[in-house]
Amino acid sequence: MGSQVKTLFVTAIIAILAVGCGGESDNSLSLQEPWCGNGMCEFGEFCSVCPDDCDCKTLAATPPMGWNSWNRFGCDIDEAMCRETADAMVESGMRDAGYVYLNLDDCWQTDRSRDGTIIADPERFPSGIPALADYVHSRGLKFGLYTCAGTETCQERPGSAGYEEIDARTYAEWEVDYVKVDWCNTEGMDARTQYGIMRDALAASGRPMVFSICNWGYFQPHIWGPYTGHLWRTTGDIADSFVRMLYNFYITQSLPSFAGPGHWNDPDMLEVGNGGMSAEEYRTHFSLWAILAAPLIAGNDLREMSGETRDILLNREVIAVDQDPLGIPGLRVSGSLTGVWARPLAREGARAVVLFNGLWFPAQVKVRWSDVGLAEGEAQVRDLWQHRELGPYDQGYGAQLQPHQSVMLLVTGKEHAPCSGTTYLSDYPWMYAANGEGVVYRDLNTTGHPITLGERAYHKGLGVLASSVILYHLGGRCTSFAADIGIDDEVGEAGTVVFQVLADNELVYDSGLMTGSMEPRSIRVPLDGVHLLKLMVANTGDSLYGDHADWADTTITCQ
Ligand code: GLA
Repeated sequence: MGSQVKTLFVTAIIAILAVGCGGESDNSLSLQEPWCGNGMCEFGEFCSVCPDDCDCKTLAATPPMGWNSWNRFGCDIDEAMCRETADAMVESGMRDAGYVYLNLDDCWQTDRSRDGTIIADPERFPSGIPALADYVHSRGLKFGLYTCAGTETCQERPGSAGYEEIDARTYAEWEVDYVKVDWCNTEGMDARTQYGIMRDALAASGRPMVFSICNWGYFQPHIWGPYTGHLWRTTGDIADSFVRMLYNFYITQSLPSFAGPGHWNDPDMLEVGNGGMSAEEYRTHFSLWAILAAPLIAGNDLREMSGETRDILLNREVIAVDQDPLGIPGLRVSGSLTGVWARPLAREGARAVVLFNGLWFPAQVKVRWSDVGLAEGEAQVRDLWQHRELGPYDQGYGAQLQPHQSVMLLVTGKEHAPCSGTTYLSDYPWMYAANGEGVVYRDLNTTGHPITLGERAYHKGLGVLASSVILYHLGGRCTSFAADIGIDDEVGEAGTVVFQVLADNELVYDSGLMTGSMEPRSIRVPLDGVHLLKLMVANTGDSLYGDHADWADTTITCQ
């Protein structure tokens, strides 16, 4: 090719690629990364850089799925029912659909022996817990137990306070895979400290066990939970009623940026199939849990499920949304009591979307592609409850919804493409942006004031409050990312955060601890061939006070 032709050719290619680049979008969505629970990896380490012997890569990388005895059976549990439930999990196809944990809740324990070892109820569990765990394992399932951080459980059985080490060791010996730790009878205790003791005890036991923190959202577990356990309850107990289920959903949906692979918000176990809601309401319950990336822990009697209940719990398309490996919790993109929630999925251009009517009269609910961070144009729409393609739709999709109804969609559209040259990221539409307690600000700090770092005011940048996650689609066309990072001058010396940049989910920059008394830093990160850029600011498990983090003058340079 002659050099003139070559130049023309390259210019034409650049022009073609540049068509449809940039653009405006006012949506917000977001996420967080694989922190490793069980104390196996230190704060801020990612699974991909864990030591060889670290098992955290696979522990709760997606939200745990299984069954728990409490919602349906309360204290009325025994080994025969548990074995039958294990059988039912296999025969119904639940296990193969991903429900692998069989978890005993409160009331399996009655006492402690003289050396402090916990004792199972000899009448209800005459063969002992190890035999039950063996049976559960023999069915290809995993086994979970319940305890309480306090002196007694909520049903006045022996609690773990002061017995954390011996309990963790006992669970490990019994080959327990999942431990739920409640918060009754904890007067005078600090949750972060108390759950930290159990985390360390579980880690010292040497057996990887999913650690489920159940302190009902008290003491802001979403802040310290990611450094303590794999999931934490965000609310009080669910009940088998639409209103109560919705309450738990609304609280949890306000915290997307704190959850991600290895650490999940838990709006409590499922009530699907327990009889207190209509089939339509249970479908909504299941859709809302999946869009949140919530743990799916069934709470009904699996031995006698109706066809309708089966169809809900075994809807593999909805389960696939919940278990999407990108692990980004859904975000409200419009509305409130009727509204739209969405999350980006691992596959390029894919979004899971729930249109939901929480009102008691019919309502029209609509999603625009720009709301979910997609570019203008056509997108394919699939209904995940009807299991059928609805066809291509331009701009967006709307539906008339009955009271309490929801529609769950898989939308596959076009991602934005960055312009060639150097672009401020605050001028480029994100796929998703979630911020500690609100929205990500463009060209302002997280309180809506000018970005100021090291006494320098910046006109461009992104202002966030830890923890926050912002995702951008780069389509493999960019070469580098640059920013000045630090804690905004407006908080003085307050604030403790960690800035992280992930390229296609690989950690490529980690600031380590940055405090308000440190100088800002200029960073430059190579991005060749990267499709997904993730900017994260993590809080450090203390509080969000002063965590006003700035990505100032943030740019990408692309071809
Ligand atoms: C608390 C928990 C429930 C259940 C009961 C058992 O209320 O939040 O999930 O474990 O205790 O007593």
